[in-house]
Amino acid sequence: MEHKGFAFVFALFFLASSSYGDVSYSFPEEMKGGSVIGNIAKDLGLDPNRLSARKARIDAEGKRRYCDINMRTGDLTVNDRIDREELCSEKITCQLKYELMLESPLELHRITLQIQDNNDNIPVFPNDIIKLEIRESAAKGSRYRVNEAHDADVGQNAVQTYTLQINDHFVLAVSPNVDGGKNVELVLDKELDREKEQEVKLILTAADGGSPPRSGSVEIHVTVLDANDNSPLFSQPVYRVSLPENSPLDTLVVKVSATDADEGPNGDVTYGFSRISNKARKAFSLDPTTGEIKVTGPIDFEDEAQYELRVEAKDGFGLSTDSKIIIEISDVNDNAPVILLKSLSDPVSESAPPGTEVGIINVQDRDSENNRNVRCSIQHDVPFKLVPSVKKYYSLVTTNNLDRETVSAYNITITATDEGTPPLSSFKYVQLSVADVNDNPPKFEHQSLSTHVTENNKPGSSLCSVTATDPDWRQNGTIMYSLSAGEVHGFPVSSLLSINGDTGVIHAVRSFDYEQFRSFNVQVVARDNGSPPLSSNATVSVFISDENDNSPQILYPAPDGNSFMTEMVPKTVQANSLVSKVIAVDADSGQNAWLSYHIMKSTDPGLFTISLHSGEIKTLRDISESDVMKQTLVVAVKDNGKPALSATCTMYLLISDNLAEVPELKDMSFDESNSKLTSYLIIALVSVCTIFFTFIVVAFATRFCRKRKPRMLFDGAVAIPSAYISPNYADVEGAGTLRSSYNYDGYLTTGSRTSDFKFVGSYSDATMPADQTLKNSTLSVLHAERPYHDTMVPSEVCF
Ligand SMILES: *[C@@H]1O[C@H](CO)[C@@H](O)[C@H](O)[C@H]1NC(C)=O
Ligand SMILES: *[C@@H]1O[C@H](CO)[C@@H](O)[C@H](O)[C@H]1NC(C)=O
Ligand SMILES: *[C@@H]1O[C@H](CO)[C@@H](O)[C@H](O)[C@H]1NC(C)=O
Repeated sequence: MEHKGFAFVFALFFLASSSYGDVSYSFPEEMKGGSVIGNIAKDLGLDPNRLSARKARIDAEGKRRYCDINMRTGDLTVNDRIDREELCSEKITCQLKYELMLESPLELHRITLQIQDNNDNIPVFPNDIIKLEIRESAAKGSRYRVNEAHDADVGQNAVQTYTLQINDHFVLAVSPNVDGGKNVELVLDKELDREKEQEVKLILTAADGGSPPRSGSVEIHVTVLDANDNSPLFSQPVYRVSLPENSPLDTLVVKVSATDADEGPNGDVTYGFSRISNKARKAFSLDPTTGEIKVTGPIDFEDEAQYELRVEAKDGFGLSTDSKIIIEISDVNDNAPVILLKSLSDPVSESAPPGTEVGIINVQDRDSENNRNVRCSIQHDVPFKLVPSVKKYYSLVTTNNLDRETVSAYNITITATDEGTPPLSSFKYVQLSVADVNDNPPKFEHQSLSTHVTENNKPGSSLCSVTATDPDWRQNGTIMYSLSAGEVHGFPVSSLLSINGDTGVIHAVRSFDYEQFRSFNVQVVARDNGSPPLSSNATVSVFISDENDNSPQILYPAPDGNSFMTEMVPKTVQANSLVSKVIAVDADSGQNAWLSYHIMKSTDPGLFTISLHSGEIKTLRDISESDVMKQTLVVAVKDNGKPALSATCTMYLLISDNLAEVPELKDMSFDESNSKLTSYLIIALVSVCTIFFTFIVVAFATRFCRKRKPRMLFDGAVAIPSAYISPNYADVEGAGTLRSSYNYDGYLTTGSRTSDFKFVGSYSDATMPADQTLKNSTLSVLHAERPYHDTMVPSEVCF
């Protein structure tokens, strides 16, 4: 029934003594959907703006939810039609109990809604017509019971008054009876006379106390009889029985009995329900003759804990009495606990600290008392635990740090067991996944890696590849490779190597030259795609291996074409004397720089020989007068590479003790004005050289004997242009190749031109750094700086 305009609401609220506030609102049934019951946020002192953030909600514990909360304003509104009679039938107080739940932190508030009755039902009599049969001899004052009317409303809205249509014979007597109802009786006021009236018709009206009041009426037919009669009498005014729920069909609940003092058919009592709810009608049956009430339908304590029925006993004349039957249903542990997942933060971040609340669980059991006490637990092999919170609520919290890379999801089993006998349990599986955080830097398979490449490689050829792994998820584990910027040997890294960012394959950008540098290191960086990204690095060492790409370089004698470089060989030289030496270098290394010397052509093949590895030219026999004065040797210098490279030079030897004897020199186009001076200088030089040479031989022989090491066979100071000297020249000893560093204390050369003497000086001036030192008397060290090197490569060259 609608009550438009019923705009005001009785809102009472009080704070209970518990730590959580309870509110109670009282309002009439049948309010329109959306009507405001009260502002619960204000009444509980909650901030309405935080309701959404705290996931405020009304929890009906599985029952129908008749109200809702407005998340913006905090108003509690009517959600659905509330019919008090449907909800609470005859109960005087009709309450709906809900819980307002808020998260972070978990908070519960009890909400009690008191539904007030509206006078929306009329009084109804159980039968359309009440039939009474009364003897004409009945005395004045005789009482005849009629069934009372029932109004589904309660309190003032229930039946308040009865009125009987004005008539000649009966008045109405209404008195309260033992079970809280009313006895409605017709009292005979003036005797009946069957001869005058065989039947009397009356209208009985019941009215409720609502405003306006509503009423319902019933017709009473009184048949006037000739004989007297007694009403049946129940053995008990109220039958109170207890019945366990789930009792099987046909279970006898109670047997009512009424007796009638009359004999014969007038004493035959029949039973019937005079008032029974629809629910009870489905559950119970009444045998009209035996008065046995039996179970005919499901009995569920959780559905209805108590039934109230009225039973009427009627005799053959239709005189009746009624009695009340209260059937109390007792609880059986027939409901397993129910586990409700009220909230779950899924996925949970792997960075969540221990103690983080990830879910809220509520357990319910529809049974009562011990059958309703529930214990809740989870398995032990997960880093979670249940922390009891307010009343039957549990928080699921982490007990440990999570690591997605170890366990990426959990299957949590929640077990709830009640305390009934036998106990009932239920399980709930909660799937919880762990969200990734970029907490793992990429990790290289090898922290350092070396690769070998032969020089003169093709630009763009791939050298090697690096691999890093990152166990993080998706972009947090997606790796990009790069080379860390910088310089090696004066080159930007990017001009030497490139890396494929996705595959980690490293390519050479240019062709390498072993003679330029033999190795270098670069840093490879692996960076993931997280934000912020994490990175790690590894070192890649590139070793360039030699290829025989340099031919031997002859330093002495000067390359072909300078025919003026001539060695003087005194005529007195005996067999096996050192007369000269071919000096050659090879910029390669190892076998590729292992030089061997061969005489290709000579004026007199029997006179000179060349040491295969040292390049020393010695006489094979004593020089005789008959030997040709001018000897020419063509010497080939070969390295040991595959294929071998070679160079040739021509050495001119002059067998003479006296420069004047040299006809060829005279042929040379000397400047006449200088020739005399030149001759003197040459003579002086040759003398000095000879003395020096002798001294060196002596000194060296001494040294040779002392060290027992055949080192110095030929001493001479040759200034080798630094540009010819490669850095590897200094360490070929370790490479197992010919030792190219010879010490020369004397400078033995010929050539009569003054410019030749400037040879030493000019090189000293132009290329020898100031820090040139002489070690002992026999060692001169040249720190050569290669002009095309960007960095200093100190090379210690001894000669
Ligand atoms: C979770 O575990 C239970 C029991 O251990 C199992 O029955 C269920 O299938 C599991 N669920 C998943 C998704 O693995
Ligand atoms: C990567 O990690 C960040 C935190 O470091 C996180 O916010 C993001 O969701 C992660 N990405 C993925 C795809 O898991
Ligand atoms: C490489 O990593 C080390 C530590 O792992 C760090 O100290 C160094 O700075 C890194 N170098 C570069 C170029 O990133």
